[in-house]
This record gives sequence, structure tokens and C-alpha cells, in this order.
Amino acid sequence: MKALILAGGKGTRLRPLTYTGAKQLVPVANKPILWYGIEEMVAAGITDIGIVISPETGREVKIKTGQGERFGAEITYILQDKPAGLAHAVQVAHPFLKDSPFVMYLGDNLIQQGDLSYFLKQFIQQQHDALILLRQVANPCAFGVAKVDEKGQVLQLIEKPKVPPSNLALVGVYFFSQVIHEAIAYITPSARGELEITDAIQYLIDNKKQVVACEIEGWWLDTGKKDDLLEANRLILDTYLKPLVLGEIDVESKIIGRVQIGSGSKVINCTIRGPVIIGSNCFLENCFIGPYSSIADNTTLLDSDLEHSVILEGAKIAGIHDRIIDSVIGQRAQLTVASRRPKALRFLIGDDCQVELM
Ligand code: TTP
Repeated sequence: MKALILAGGKGTRLRPLTYTGAKQLVPVANKPILWYGIEEMVAAGITDIGIVISPETGREVKIKTGQGERFGAEITYILQDKPAGLAHAVQVAHPFLKDSPFVMYLGDNLIQQGDLSYFLKQFIQQQHDALILLRQVANPCAFGVAKVDEKGQVLQLIEKPKVPPSNLALVGVYFFSQVIHEAIAYITPSARGELEITDAIQYLIDNKKQVVACEIEGWWLDTGKKDDLLEANRLILDTYLKPLVLGEIDVESKIIGRVQIGSGSKVINCTIRGPVIIGSNCFLENCFIGPYSSIADNTTLLDSDLEHSVILEGAKIAGIHDRIIDSVIGQRAQLTVASRRPKALRFLIGDDCQVELM
């Protein structure tokens, strides 16, 4: 059994962060999203892992993630020269996958830990041609939706249906036998110019192959957009964060609830109310850090209040008197108050940024 994790793509929905980096490396609770997927595979016993990368961000993914030692896995990188669809990614990965059955996992998705082993066992024991995971959602019109019979056989897949046949959305996890390659060889690009995995699965269904679905009950998140990323951050901090303080905290500071502070970080006269994670070599003075905040390494926070936010590496926030909430601040971004006159707002903001002032 092999795993194929998709970490290419365009990442348009997470701009501007994806102008300068891979969306799969954006941290959730200070760990790249992609790494959760890798860990999930290894926990399910799959250690032969291929990661599909793009020419734009592939190098960064490779350098950050390595050859797999840190996960107890062996990672093979597969370059997809253009983001031509999920089925295209499988096609490009065929020389790595050979005739092995495999699990395909979207590198920007997160599912609750522990679910994968159970479905993997089902897939292997029952020798299905494809097993897809579904999750009940409130707004099926926004997803790929499956029509399933009472035995769990998939009858039809529909992308973003106007009239959804069910509220079961396709989660970004699929188990395939080698017959998927035949299906991909047969399909043609969709209206948006991509080779769609849903078309390939539909081909299997139409050709009487065994395509079954299982419903997951734990949470599932596609971190492709800012609010989903914040929600993933909240869930991971809420579920898994363990208190651990390696940095220095002065006597004026109050640490409440589950808080992690990395080595080399200094906290002076701050109130930190967990769950909160602060990386290494950060400097915080006169701040309130509220629940569900993740602050990456080498950041500086002075005289500021923050809550339910993700701050990326090397950012600086100083003297902002209003509380910052529901925010994602990119690497090395600076949010400060200038002392010089005239008193005014001064910006240098990159393309596609969003700033909401009161
Ligand atoms: P999507 O989020 O569906 O596509 P995208 O990355 O192009 O994003 P956006 O809609 O914001 O422009 O992709 C799901 C995952 O699959 C994601 O980790 C990127 C990856 N992917 C590939 O590796 N190759 C591809 O050709 C595509 C379309 C996606």
C-alpha cells in the first residue's frame, strides 16, 4: 500500500499567502498542514509516500519536509509541471505508484486523527476498486457530492450540484486499486480544463467497478481559505495542545489554561489565555494573547491584544490598540504604529491582501 499526497495546485483561494509559499506549508498550531497528512498515513502504517509538488513551490516543500526520516517514512517527490487536476496528479505519479493500491490525500485537508486506519482495513479486506470518504455537510452545493445506495455503493458523483442528491460531501481522501489508472487514461479534461478525479471515479461506477463510500464522523477541514484555516487552527489547538513552557516568563505574566511556549522565547508582562501556542525565539511584552492563537517562531509582539489568529514566522505587531481577531498575518509582515507626524495610516500591502479597519 502506498500513499499519494497532493501538494501542488494553484492555491488561489489562499492568496496572498500562496504568492510566496505553498499553501500546504502554512502552519496550523505551528505545524505545516501537510505534515498532519503525512503523520496520519504513517499512523495507519503507510510509509511509502509520494508527494506531488509544483514547479513554483516544490523546492520549498521538499526542503521543509525532507526525505521522511522525521516521520518514519520514505518520501518520493513527484513533479507535476502544471496544476491540471487531481486525476492528472495521479497520472503523473503512475511511475511511482506502479500497480500498487494507494490512498490519495489532498495535502491541504485535515481529518480527525485515527480515522484512516479503520477505512484502510475495510478497503484492503473487501478488495474494493475505490473507497471514498464522505462527510455530512450543511451546504452540499459547495462540494463534490455523492449519491449512495443503502449498501454504501456509490451511484453518482456530482460536482457542486444545484440540487444536491444528499448532504454527503467528498472528503479529500480516496483509496484506489490500480484500475483508477485505466479510468484516468479514458477521461478528458473538464470545462475548467482539469482532469477531474470525480470523472475518473464516475467512469469506474459506469463500468460496474466496486466503488463504495464510508462516512466519517470526526471533523474534516479543507484549509484552502482563510476562515477554514482559522477553524483548523482552533480545532487542532482545542483537541491536541498540551501545556509545555520552555521559554522564559516573568513574574508579572499570567498564563491561564493550555499554553505552549518554545525555547528561547521571552514573555514579559503578558496575559496568555490558552489554548495558545507560541514558537521559539519570540518576544512578547505587554500583550494579551487570547484563545486559539498560534504564533510562529521569531515573532515580536509588543503592546498588542490578539485572539483567534495565526501569526506566521518573523512577523512583528506593535502598539496596535484595538484587539486583533480572526486574522492571519504572513511571514515577516509588520503591523506597527508610527510615532511620526502627520498622524495617519500608512500601508505597504501586497496584492490580494485584506485589511478591515474599524
Ligand atoms: P484544490 O484546493 O482543489 O486546488 P488548488 O490548490 O489549485 O486551490 P485553489 O482552488 O485555491 O486555486 O487542490 C486540492 C489539493 O490538491 C491541494 O493540496 C493542491 C493539490 N493539487 C495538486 O497537487 N495538483 C493539481 O493539479 C490540483 C488541482 C491540486
